[in-house]
Amino acid sequence: MAPMAPNRGSAITGWAMALPPTIVTNEDLSRYLDTSDSWIVDRTGIRERRVIYGPFAPRPADPLTWTSPPMGIGTTASLAIEAGRKALDAAHLGAEDIDLLILCTTTPDQAVPATSSVVQSALGLHCAAFDLNAACAGFVYGLVTAASFITGGAHRVLVIGSETLSRIVDWTDRETAVLFGDGAGAVVVEEVPGDSSLLGWDVGVDGQLQPILYADHGGSLQMVGKEVFRRAVRATVESSQAAMERAKVTPDDIALFVPHQANSRIIEAACARLEIPIERAAVMLDRTGNTSSASIPLALCEAVDAGRVADGDLILMSGFGAGMTWASAVWRWCSDPFQDCAERPASG
Ligand code: ACO
Repeated sequence: MAPMAPNRGSAITGWAMALPPTIVTNEDLSRYLDTSDSWIVDRTGIRERRVIYGPFAPRPADPLTWTSPPMGIGTTASLAIEAGRKALDAAHLGAEDIDLLILCTTTPDQAVPATSSVVQSALGLHCAAFDLNAACAGFVYGLVTAASFITGGAHRVLVIGSETLSRIVDWTDRETAVLFGDGAGAVVVEEVPGDSSLLGWDVGVDGQLQPILYADHGGSLQMVGKEVFRRAVRATVESSQAAMERAKVTPDDIALFVPHQANSRIIEAACARLEIPIERAAVMLDRTGNTSSASIPLALCEAVDAGRVADGDLILMSGFGAGMTWASAVWRWCSDPFQDCAERPASG
């Protein structure tokens, strides 16, 4: 991996999340599925999730369309717009300041056009935009792509992970219905003087593993759970180690580990093998379930807002997902990179 260009560093200067208001608890699910709160908590760590679609959504009058929420309740785009707007506000930036929007999602609202077009328009951006589908590794793929665009000349990139997985979950299948939820997380990645905050990264895919986790157009998520579990632990560990090696850091240097939020047992196994104390892991899945591309930015936002990182701390983010994809990044946290500068550079 070539070193980042000098004097075109990047930092996260704004971050925010959006969650739909409807909370579905394990007890809610066990009222109509052959499952229980204790099974779900023991096997996954999940206690509740937020959803837009499905039997818990506010129902339109026509029962034939009960899996679709009434217009205006929410979409992948609307969650992304909310998170993106709040992230811009947090960074004290306007729509005109953004050069590129990367919308990481595996649940676009339409086949065509890309959901990023809808988000770009609603946020009033006048910049390039594209969807990025790398499943649950999507946000870290997006972060690495954003830092590379900044190295190449962009000033500010809005990266959003947004998902409505409740739309592609079969709510009658207990093996998948208990796992997933909806949400969005967004960050502004901004050009800063000096070194890049992205110290090391690793991205990849093994396309031969497509059959263990997929959803056809119009279909629902199909998963060979045990095999995904086994591969997920290995991918998280090996990819995290590759990113740390490239960053020339060790697990002892990592202040906060933000893994993909799929299953607490996967997180525990990965922490044990990486020799990162579990107390350093950001865990939000108990309240959100697996939100795919949104899971890492959601957990990152919550941890940062809780004061779990200080300027200069190293964050390791690592995701895995359908494909199977994986992506890891070691990021040096600096929330206010302009404090020592006379002036924030103008947008271009
Ligand atoms: N409630 C009660 N029992 C259940 C449920 C449920 N919700 N789901 C499955 N079971 C039953 C099974 O039928 C099985 O019963 P049996 O022994 O009578 O056959 C038993 O529980 C054990 O099932 P397993 O599949 O062996 O359970 P396991 O311990 O492997 O846990 C799980 C299943 C939670 C799905 C786990 O394999 C897992 O987390 N896998 C990874 C999932 C994942 O990370 N997916 C997302 C990838 S990211 C992306 O790209 C979207």
